[in-house]
Amino acid sequence: MVPKALATDSAANSAADLVQRAWCLLLATAARRRGAWAEQAAVGLEGTGQWLSWHGSGAPTVAAQVPAGARPLLELYAPLCAAAPGRPLTIAHLGQSLDGHIATGSGDSYYVTGPDNVRHLHRLRALCDAVIVGAGTVARDDPQLTVRHVEGANPVRVILDPRAQLPARYRVFTDGLARTVVVHAQGVATVAPGNAEVLVVPHTDGRLDLRALLAALHARGLNVVFVEGGGATVSGFLEAGLLDRLHVAIAPLVTGSGRRGLSLPARDKIADCLRPAHRVFTMGGDVLFDCDLRAPSSAASTSSNDDITRVI
Ligand SMILES: NC(=O)c1ccc[n+]([C@@H]2O[C@H](COP(=O)([O-])OP(=O)(O)OC[C@H]3O[C@@H](n4cnc5c(N)ncnc54)[C@H](OP(=O)(O)O)[C@@H]3O)[C@@H](O)[C@H]2O)c1
Repeated sequence: MVPKALATDSAANSAADLVQRAWCLLLATAARRRGAWAEQAAVGLEGTGQWLSWHGSGAPTVAAQVPAGARPLLELYAPLCAAAPGRPLTIAHLGQSLDGHIATGSGDSYYVTGPDNVRHLHRLRALCDAVIVGAGTVARDDPQLTVRHVEGANPVRVILDPRAQLPARYRVFTDGLARTVVVHAQGVATVAPGNAEVLVVPHTDGRLDLRALLAALHARGLNVVFVEGGGATVSGFLEAGLLDRLHVAIAPLVTGSGRRGLSLPARDKIADCLRPAHRVFTMGGDVLFDCDLRAPSSAASTSSNDDITRVI
């Protein structure tokens, strides 16, 4: 999609306008990535100058002259702009309570995190080609998985339903708002629910081959993939080593018990646990850990000159 024209009047430097400019630039960059990626020149939109620039094949650099009001948005989403045909990227997000739950025991998750983080979810959808959720999330939430809280195009919706159990009544299969692909395990008798297309993927004892799934999505031009939940689905991608980035938003909420977010095989020693390189952003009252799973692990003993840093 083509971003709306940018304002050039005297209000151009308001905080909201800077965020809008940054967002339009990111959308334009994602649109360019979806097309033939001829060269990695800076993307310029009216009023954004050379806010993003490329030096090599990684994520773009946010220029020093970017106004403070636009900088966090560009820095948070710039890594998603590193993807291109032949260089795919998979990111996952979970919003969890202080005690590590993404929903109550009954499955209620509306809403664990606040409106700023919900807007972040819509931004991730808009910047990605496909959004994946597990059958549990569709059965519990009947989500639309569309972009509604920000400007941007809807991703292709991909539903993991290995046993072909979900009936056609769910919105992703009927609303026609975006393309939906339902993933069934090879060998299961499949009927496409509603408007969905069926993608058959190999499995081992019912566990889908997630690497084969991603390869099939890439072959369809869906190079930037967002795994939105729930906990079992994100954990499967993490355990298989298929995530490039993991966003975990922690809300000031205690559920007491509930549905687990990440759940991986146990480790005996802390030294053997995953301690990813990360950045920290705040979103309203929530704290977002942006973990780079392809960078060397961060050291537990890392220390700064100040032993406490206030980020809010
Ligand atoms: N706070 C958040 O960030 C967030 C985000 C999304 C959802 N949620 C909440 O999370 C809950 C649902 O999460 P959940 O962990 O229970 O379920 P889920 O991850 O949504 O779905 C799990 C199901 O998806 C299928 N599946 C996923 N990965 C698979 C794989 N690798 N191989 C085979 N099948 C696979 C399986 O279906 P079968 O059972 O048919 O085998 C599995 O039981 C809901 O309460 C929802 O509201 C919270």
